[in-house]
Amino acid sequence: MAAILIVDDEAGVRASLGGILRDEGYVVDAVDSGEACLEQVTRRSYDLLLLDIWLPGLDGLETLARLRERHIEAQVIMISGHGSIENAVRATKLGAFDFIEKPLFLEKTMLVVRNALRQHRLEEENRALRARVDRQFVMVGESALIQQLRAQIAMAAPTNSRVLISGENGTGKELVARQIHALSNRRAGPFVEVNCAAIPEELIESELFGHMKGAFTGAVANRRGKFELAHGGTLFLDEIADMSLKTQAKVLRALQEQVIEPVGGQSSVRVDVRVIAATNKHLAEEIREGRFREDLFFRLNVIPISVPPLRERGDDVVRLARHFVSELAQEYGRREKQLSPEAAAMLRAFRWPGNVRELRNVVERVLIMAPGNTIAETDLGFLEVVAPTMFRDASGASIVRPLHDARDDWERDYILATLEACEGNISKTAEMLDVERSNLYKKMRSLGIGPAREN
Ligand SMILES: Nc1ncnc2c1ncn2[C@@H]1O[C@H](COP(=O)(O)OP(=O)(O)OP(=O)(O)O)[C@@H](O)[C@H]1O
Ligand SMILES: [Mg+2]
Repeated sequence: MAAILIVDDEAGVRASLGGILRDEGYVVDAVDSGEACLEQVTRRSYDLLLLDIWLPGLDGLETLARLRERHIEAQVIMISGHGSIENAVRATKLGAFDFIEKPLFLEKTMLVVRNALRQHRLEEENRALRARVDRQFVMVGESALIQQLRAQIAMAAPTNSRVLISGENGTGKELVARQIHALSNRRAGPFVEVNCAAIPEELIESELFGHMKGAFTGAVANRRGKFELAHGGTLFLDEIADMSLKTQAKVLRALQEQVIEPVGGQSSVRVDVRVIAATNKHLAEEIREGRFREDLFFRLNVIPISVPPLRERGDDVVRLARHFVSELAQEYGRREKQLSPEAAAMLRAFRWPGNVRELRNVVERVLIMAPGNTIAETDLGFLEVVAPTMFRDASGASIVRPLHDARDDWERDYILATLEACEGNISKTAEMLDVERSNLYKKMRSLGIGPAREN
């Protein structure tokens, strides 16, 4: 619920206005001077200030000016006494949203308050939207694993349950999280992302829970945390295994009680947030090593979804490559290029340690670097930097071969190298490779490895 601060030196106004607003369900605090107002806004963040123009000491206009100086983003409505309309108009020029006149009429007051809060919320949403990269969130893929993933997303999305997404780097964990949000009942609410690995340890709590001005060096203004910004929507906690145990304890508490406490604040804020978490680590191992709280794991892991590595998705590699070719060509205003069958086969055979993200980068690079209208296998030569001999035959030409042949070559090289290290001694070689001597013989014969010294 929205938080409102009343600033008025008349106790009667504080009491009656406060009562009415509380009845409407708002969280209301009240102070009696401009000085007290400037102090109070450092204790918690408000959505709206009702600020009297006539105040002893610092008057309403000066208070407003100082609030703006300090980048307090709350909406402000001026309360003007008799004959101070002119000042109220000046205040709106200083950035006040509107003014109401004493004596206060219930209906008019409520109307202005509601408008101000709606405007405030729109502004905040707008900011969040603009900050979000404006991309299409389509999920490309027809493989069995991706169809299964889609089904899991569709089932999880409307439930409001917490979801824990696991998968290697670049597999599309964030995309999955965004899809769950987009298919959920919270889709009109915000989707807020926090990359726990990218935020320095000493800032993560303030990032998640917000802070009050002066809570620590550098906290020059009140700031809302991501939990609060995600109110009514979804909070995506990325790379959760990178949170310290201390932060994990606080996150656990926020999840259990659905309330958060800004750093340096004295009161807690109730939040309605669905949490989707993601990790590329094995949390079971992190728990065993004492780096991740088991109780937090159980809280987060209500619905587990695992995103498969790209190398297990078969032809999806090629589909994704074509998708990125047309997406990126459009982005750069260039002509689309075709993918030669050999190039497609090469992409499909590659192991993609960086998964979809890496594939996208490769496509981007090829679009920029490859000269013709077709992407040929030679344009993908640089993939061999990552896998030097994987795609070469004996003559050094670039090819993609059946897995069986590639495996034979590799085994042959490995056995020959071990034999050499053992100076041709078969017994020793068998021992090093941990295979039976007779099996090693058989293997060598089938791989066409020449006669060796037998002893
Ligand atoms: N199935 C897919 N279809 C289309 N684009 C995809 C697909 N999967 C991933 N992408 C794109 O690949 C890139 C990486 O995906 P995303 O950021 O979701 O992965 P991630 O698992 O969160 O990666 P990281 O581990 O690096 O954080 C993004 O640009 C995303 O849009
Ligand atoms: Mg990610």
